[in-house]
Amino acid sequence: MGSLTVRNLGEDIKKRLRLRAAANGRSMEEEVRLLLAERAAETATEAKPRAKQSTKPEPPVRETATRRVLLIISGGIAAYKSLDLIRRLRERGIAVRVVMTRAAQEFVTPLSVGAIAGERAFTDLFDQASELDVGHIRLARNTDLIVVAPATADLMAKMANGHADELATAVLLATDKKILLAPAMNPRMWANKATQRNLETLVGDGVITVGPNAGEMAESGEAGVGRMAEPLEIVAAVEKLLESSDARAAQNGPLAGKRFVITAGPTHEPIDPVRYIANRSSGKQGYAIARAAVEAGAAVTLVSGPVGLPDPPGMKTVRVENARAMLRAVEAALPADVGIFAAAVADWRTAGDAVQKLKKDASGPPKLELIENPDILATVSKRKTKRPKLVIGFAAETEKVIEHAKAKRKRKGSDWIVANDVSAEGGAMGGDDNAVHLVTAAGVESWPSQSKDAVARQLVARVAQALNGKAT
Ligand code: C5P
Repeated sequence: MGSLTVRNLGEDIKKRLRLRAAANGRSMEEEVRLLLAERAAETATEAKPRAKQSTKPEPPVRETATRRVLLIISGGIAAYKSLDLIRRLRERGIAVRVVMTRAAQEFVTPLSVGAIAGERAFTDLFDQASELDVGHIRLARNTDLIVVAPATADLMAKMANGHADELATAVLLATDKKILLAPAMNPRMWANKATQRNLETLVGDGVITVGPNAGEMAESGEAGVGRMAEPLEIVAAVEKLLESSDARAAQNGPLAGKRFVITAGPTHEPIDPVRYIANRSSGKQGYAIARAAVEAGAAVTLVSGPVGLPDPPGMKTVRVENARAMLRAVEAALPADVGIFAAAVADWRTAGDAVQKLKKDASGPPKLELIENPDILATVSKRKTKRPKLVIGFAAETEKVIEHAKAKRKRKGSDWIVANDVSAEGGAMGGDDNAVHLVTAAGVESWPSQSKDAVARQLVARVAQALNGKAT
């Protein structure tokens, strides 16, 4: 597949694209890609018989809350380590956009940087294509953090004095984001009073530094303080800064100060020490809700059954095996403002505890007696004390979805039920998409099929409205 070049389009089209991209807060390349993707999707549906269409266009959905770093590479021998830095950041799900100074291109090429970053490196302030495409102001602002690695003595001097003579310095001057510097230079240059003066100015301006470290220099026979911090040290500093900016965002979120308890995943009910009763729940929907609640500022306890997902950041995760342990963990997390019960709790467990593995012998298969598990949703909904203000259950149905969900809301005593169709066609179990209906006392809202992350954000936004008295 070739890449897109906006430069070759006519001036009028470029102008219209520029306005449209600016209105949507996207780069021109992103706008063109989205337009092409939309057109391709339309062409695909045109080929099939058309389903009944809604007249209202769906609002665009932000798919992931990806963290973004703008990496500025300046011209030092340590620039080769920046390739590894890009790789390490991307491994952690951090999107990396790169700006290179002219001098940096003497050490590593924009081609190799672009290949590792997954997007071309930006190099020129006066390159018409890149100014039309993204522009130095957008480069400076559309990121969560700016990292300069390596930061040479020359670049530090320019930053300290507010120069804007090339793309890298112009971006650094135009940004309102935090800047992390990883200085790298010869030890004498680092120790020089001019460099130390510049460093002091930069630190006073709020710039954060990582390194330089002491050790051997690339030049033979030279040693001292001046080696760039190792890529993993820089990554650790980046993650710390990104987390604190997430935390700052959360303090202002619509759910700041609210406590949530959320269940997710299946439960495993033991038959004997090696066998258990389980179900196909992946935990994805519950985990997505927990992440969305944290993003909106809530303090979340996630009570998770056995799933293959890592502990999500920014919340307390309690891992349990079976329904009884899940209920205990939920009750220990009360009081809470909101309880969301997305776990697929096993309805039954075997009676009695088989301490030894059941043996296969001539008497044939063992008879398993099943007894009912506690219903966590119903137990919490019906509590006289410490009942969360808003209790939300899920209903996985294969037929008469809304009818069954309405009955479940009454039976369990929850305030809301989020109902979805888990019949094979719907494919919600284990998949990434989900089409749900929100059943409340006021009625039923049917939401379009969307990613589980988008369902989570919509549900959390709806909860925030309800808590703030703007909806029921
Ligand atoms: O009755 P059913 O399993 O369909 O109800 C689903 C809802 O009830 C989900 O919100 C689920 O988390 C919750 N539930 C529970 N404890 C159980 C069974 C279901 O919390 N033992």
